[in-house]
Parts: sequence; C-alpha cells; structure tokens
Amino acid sequence: MERRLQQYFFVLSVLSLLLIVGAAYQASTPAWKRYQKQYVALEAQGEPNAITKAAVLATPPEVHQVMLTGLQRVDRCTTCHLGVEDPTMKNAAEPFRYHENLGPHIPSKFGCTICHGGQGLATEKEDAHGNVEFWQNPLLTKEYIRASCGRCHKDGDVPGVPELSEGKRLFENQGCRGCHKLNGVGGTIGPDLSLEGANHRAPEWLEKHFLTPNAVSTGSAMPNFHFTRDQAKALTYYMLSLTSEDMGSYYSTVRLIPGPEFGRQIFQEKNCINCHNVGGVGQKVGPDLQGVVGRHSPEWLDEQLINPELVYPGSSMPAYDLDGNSRKALMAYLAVVTPADVQALLSQKPHVLSPADVAIEAGRQDFARFGCVGCHGTELQGGVPNPNAQGGEVPSLLHLSDDYTKDEVLAVIRNGRVPPLDNPSGPPPPLYMPAWKKVLSDEDINRVADFLWSKQQKKADAW
Ligand code: HEC
Ligand code: HEC
Ligand code: HEC
Ligand code: HEC
Ligand code: HEC
Ligand code: HEC
Repeated sequence: MERRLQQYFFVLSVLSLLLIVGAAYQASTPAWKRYQKQYVALEAQGEPNAITKAAVLATPPEVHQVMLTGLQRVDRCTTCHLGVEDPTMKNAAEPFRYHENLGPHIPSKFGCTICHGGQGLATEKEDAHGNVEFWQNPLLTKEYIRASCGRCHKDGDVPGVPELSEGKRLFENQGCRGCHKLNGVGGTIGPDLSLEGANHRAPEWLEKHFLTPNAVSTGSAMPNFHFTRDQAKALTYYMLSLTSEDMGSYYSTVRLIPGPEFGRQIFQEKNCINCHNVGGVGQKVGPDLQGVVGRHSPEWLDEQLINPELVYPGSSMPAYDLDGNSRKALMAYLAVVTPADVQALLSQKPHVLSPADVAIEAGRQDFARFGCVGCHGTELQGGVPNPNAQGGEVPSLLHLSDDYTKDEVLAVIRNGRVPPLDNPSGPPPPLYMPAWKKVLSDEDINRVADFLWSKQQKKADAW
C-alpha cells in the first residue's frame, strides 16, 4: 500500500514537472518558432521518402529578413509568412499561404510593408501587424492595400486600381488646390497634402472625412462635397499614395508604365488639342505636334512642358504640374500620334472650341486647376458655408458684373480679400479670398477673369 502511494506520488510529480517545463518552453519559445515547426511539418508531408522528410524536418528555426536599403526598411514578415513564394501552399492556412499576383514584386526585392504597412522588424504577430499603441502604421485592411501601389506607380492607370486615377481626377477637378498645396501648387487654408499618405491618417478616417468633414474634424472649414462612397474611397486611395517617399532608384524607375496609352490619356485630360493640332486636325493656336518628337531633343521637349515661359518667353502655353514620367508618357504618345487618332479624341468632345474661346477655355482650366472651384463651386455658384462672414457663405461669382468693373475683379483676384465680419465681436470666418498674384501670372489672372466674364455674359443674355 505504501509503495503504491509512493509510486503514485512519483508519477504525479513527474507529470507536474513536465507541465512546468512545457509551460516554460511555451513561454520561452517565440511563436514564430512554432510557426516554422508547423510549416516544415507541412512541407515534409509533400516529401517522397523518409530521408528527405527527415531532412526537411531538421531545418533549424531562424529569423528570415530582407534588407531593403532602397526602401529604407528591414522586413521580417516571412519569418512567419513562410509560403508566400511557394505555389503549392495555395490552399494553406495563414500565415503559410502562397501570395497570388505579386508579379515582379518579389519578397527579396520588395519585402511586405511597402504595400501592407505594419512593422517590418518585429517578430511577434501583434507588433508586426502594428496593432500596438506606439506604432502608427498598422496593416492596411484588405480593402485599402491596393492604395499602396500608388506610392511607387504615380498618376496613371495602375492596372487593377482604377481608384487611384479616379481620386486624382477628382482632386484636380473639385478645386482641392484652392485650400491645399500639393507638390508646391495650391492654397494654404487647409494642410499641405504632399505627404498625406505618410501622415498615418487611417484610411477609415480619411474616408469619413471626405463624406462629412465635420464628422471627424469638428468645425472644419472644408466644404462637404457630397461625394458618393465610391468617390470618397477613390480620394482616400489617392491620399494614401501621397508620400513623396524617397524610394531608391530601382523602385522609382517604373513610377508609371509610361507608355503612349497613358500619354494619350494626359493629352486628352489636359486638353492639349484645344490649342494644338496634329497634321492639321485640331486648333492652330500652338504648333502642329505631328513629328515634334523628331524636331527637338527630349531635354528640350521636357523643358517646354515644365516651363514654357523659359523656352518661349511670353508663351501662352500653361505650365502643367506633370511629373517626369507623365512627361515621358506624353512624349511617347506624341511620337506615335496620328491625325486620325486626334480626330477620334475630338469626336468624344461635345464641341470644338473656336480660337476666340481658347483663352476662356484656358481660364476655365486655371479656375479648376488652381482650386477656385473648391470655394466658389464648379458652376461658380458659391455657397460653401463660411460662418460669421457677411452672407454666411462664399459668394457666387455669377453676378460680378452687377457690382464690379473688370479691373476691380482683377484686383480682388490679385490681392485677395478678407470678408467683413457679420458679428464684429465673433471669430474671424475660416475662409477668405487668397491673394493669387504670387501663384498665378498676370496672364493667367486675365484669362480667369475673361472666363468669369464669359459666365456673366450668359447670365445677362438670359434676362
Ligand atoms: C509571429 C508571426 C507573424 C509575423 C512576424 C507576421 N505575421 Fe502576418 N499573420 C500571422 C498569422 C498567424 C496570421 C493569420 C491571421 C491571424 O492569426 O491574425 C497573419 C495574417 C496576416 C495578414 C492577413 C490579414 C489579417 O490581419 O488577418 C496579413 C496581410 C499579414 N499577416 C501581413 C503581415 C506583414 C506585412 C508582416 C510583417 C510586417 C507580418 N504579417 C508578420 C503571423 C505573423
Ligand atoms: C506589391 C504589393 C504587395 C507586396 C509587396 C506584398 N503584398 Fe500581400 N497583398 C497585396 C495585395 C494587393 C493584397 C490583396 C489581394 C486581394 O485583394 O485579394 C495582398 C494580400 C495579402 C494577404 C491576404 C490578406 C487577406 O486579408 O486575405 C496576405 C496574408 C499578404 N498579402 C501577405 C503579404 C506578405 C507576408 C508579404 C511579404 C512577403 C506581402 N504580402 C507582400 C499586395 C502586396
Ligand atoms: C515599392 C514600389 C512599388 C510598389 C509599392 C508597387 N510596385 Fe509595381 N513595380 C515596381 C517596380 C520597380 C516594377 C518593375 C519591376 C521589375 O521589372 O523588376 C514594377 C512593375 C509593375 C508592373 C509591370 C509588371 C510587368 O509585367 O512588367 C505592374 C503592372 C505593377 N508593377 C503593378 C503594381 C500594383 C498593382 C501594385 C500594388 C498592388 C504595385 N505595382 C506596387 C514598383 C512598385
Ligand atoms: C474651402 C477650403 C477647402 C477645400 C476646397 C478643400 N479642403 Fe480639405 N481641408 C480644409 C481644411 C480647413 C482642413 C483642416 C480641417 C479638417 O481636418 O477638416 C482640411 C483637411 C483635409 C484633409 C485632412 C488632412 C489631415 O491629415 O489633417 C484632407 C485629406 C483634405 N482636406 C483633402 C481635401 C481634398 C481631397 C479636397 C478636394 C476634394 C479638399 N480637401 C478641399 C479645407 C479645404
Ligand atoms: C479658400 C477659398 C477661396 C478660394 C480658393 C478662392 N476664393 Fe474667391 N473668394 C473667397 C471668399 C471667402 C470671397 C469673399 C470675400 C469677401 O467677402 O470680401 C471671395 C471673393 C471672390 C471674388 C469677389 C466676389 C464678390 O462678390 O465679392 C472673386 C472675383 C473671386 N473670389 C474669384 C476667385 C478666383 C478667380 C479664385 C481662383 C483663382 C478664387 N476666387 C479662389 C474664397 C475663395
Ligand atoms: C493655351 C494653349 C495651349 C495649350 C493648352 C497647350 N499648348 Fe503647347 N504650345 C502652345 C503654344 C502657343 C506653343 C508655341 C510656343 C509657345 O508659345 O510656348 C506651344 C508649344 C508646344 C510645344 C513645342 C512645339 C514646337 O514645335 O516648338 C509642345 C511639344 C507642346 N506645346 C505640347 C503641349 C502639350 C503636350 C500640351 C498639353 C499637356 C500643350 N502643349 C498644351 C499653346 C498651348
């Protein structure tokens, strides 16, 4: 009986020792080692014989890391995400699943965090996924991962990510630049957006802000544009892509796929054909662009697009905010453009402008491009709330000619104006009319005024 009791105690203490050792092992073995063990077991299943099986199972655990000097980061995600490059892991559970559609963005050159966010150096899951307080850049949810494509591939169509082009289009057409600077061009009433994608605003915050600025930013002076959910999402994608991150040269070589297709899109978007013609098709304000690529060096053409003033003093060609690859794409298009293709572009437009309307058209483009639209509306209707300004909102520009001479209007645009207070002891209204003389040339200001006047004319005709 005594012996049996002793035996019983012996077994019990061995068991509890095992439990303690087991618990200690659990605590001291990082999770990634366990994932690697599971993974080699998974791999071993596919091995044909016992010897190779044993060899696979004997793989020692180690931290996998990629140094990405060009991207200024070190990623260790593949320490757990072990099957990303192994197509046989297509149906494996996370973190072992094969990564579809990586294309040329292989882990050894790109790592993971450039697209996903997260904390590359960490080897604990919660830390790596960035779900920790001090880390400002958690994993993007699945819905927004593709916004990251725009951090390297700028402006144009990234295949499979139409949101990026749509977001950019909205940005340029809705007058965001009236209040925000982007790459040096724009107003200062709202924050500079050149680094918005690096400022760690959560996508969800941005999207809500676009739907109702006041919902996340109380008392915001930013107008409610009444965007649809899709539009808000497209703008969010575009914002997330604005990082101006200094990517190494390899990563910035393919900022966009600068082919003629993209160039054609810019050519159409920027309405180059409103001034130019190709083999006689189009307008005669600017020169025929057929064969222009053969007539000038690439450097010369690049300069013409960056700063027409410099190439042709007194040039009436607007300076466009086009990055290097967009300019390359335009040149790729101009190298192959045909009169027939331009005819096709023109037939998509409702009407062809007469040369007399071209200055007005350029003014209309400036009005959108420099962001007047953001405060005064696409139809000049005004109406953006401006608490404690007389009238309580940004004025419509449809009745200027009733109150002002054209010279007075030119002066307001040049010098700006702070609206008179409704209640003199109240706070100043958030929105004022910025001074444009340092942003726009006199030529641009005159064109904008011509455009405004053309709109007044229509109003008078209607009476
Ligand atoms: C310690 C192991 C570990 C590390 C390190 C790790 N992950 Fe994970 N990851 C997991 C596991 C396990 C899952 C499966 C889902 C879960 O358990 O949360 C997962 C899921 C994911 C998912 C799917 C979405 C989700 O949240 O479920 C993404 C995306 C992801 N990881 C990206 C990354 C990136 C990027 C890194 C590097 C910064 C990384 N992971 C580092 C273990 C890890
Ligand atoms: C070029 C950008 C890019 C890189 C680099 C990249 N991914 Fe992804 N990843 C994506 C995209 C885009 C998706 C979403 C695909 C979809 O919508 O189904 C995705 C999906 C995933 C998922 C599934 C997410 C889910 O919620 O189902 C995991 C896990 C994942 N990636 C892990 C990684 C890991 C680990 C690495 C590094 C080895 C990595 N990715 C590198 C773009 C990238
Ligand atoms: C870190 C910068 C970076 C990010 C982020 C990035 N790419 Fe790329 N992409 C590149 C580079 C560099 C190449 C050229 C790779 C090569 O050929 O070696 C490339 C090539 C491509 C190509 C051409 C592929 C081919 O067949 O030649 C496509 C399409 C593409 N990327 C789409 C995407 C998409 C979609 C995303 C988002 C899921 C994305 N890229 C994210 C840098 C990036
Ligand atoms: C009438 C001026 C005005 C116009 C037009 C305007 N914004 Fe704003 N925006 C602001 C002000 C003021 C803020 C700061 C207050 C806030 O967060 O709402 C702001 C904030 C933002 C923010 C948040 C920045 C941050 O990280 O805090 C984003 C993003 C933004 N605007 C994008 C846009 C876009 C895109 C457009 C065009 C569709 C636009 N804005 C048009 C005035 C404007
Ligand atoms: C940040 C918002 C904002 C932007 C951007 C803006 N404006 Fe204004 N604008 C105003 C406000 C506010 C007033 C009213 C000033 C006042 O009441 O004295 C105004 C007044 C005017 C007036 C005089 C109208 C009147 O009835 O008194 C003209 C003309 C005008 N803006 C043209 C423009 C043009 C052209 C642009 C683009 C180059 C532009 N605005 C951009 C806010 C803006
Ligand atoms: C408002 C009218 C106008 C618009 C819009 C315009 N241009 Fe021009 N462009 C001109 C004029 C005028 C010239 C002649 C030189 C000068 O005055 O700068 C010119 C010259 C050029 C030249 C040099 C041609 C040569 O043979 O010397 C090129 C190339 C060019 N433009 C391309 C473009 C492209 C591409 C776009 C659209 C992104 C564009 N232009 C939009 C008016 C315009």
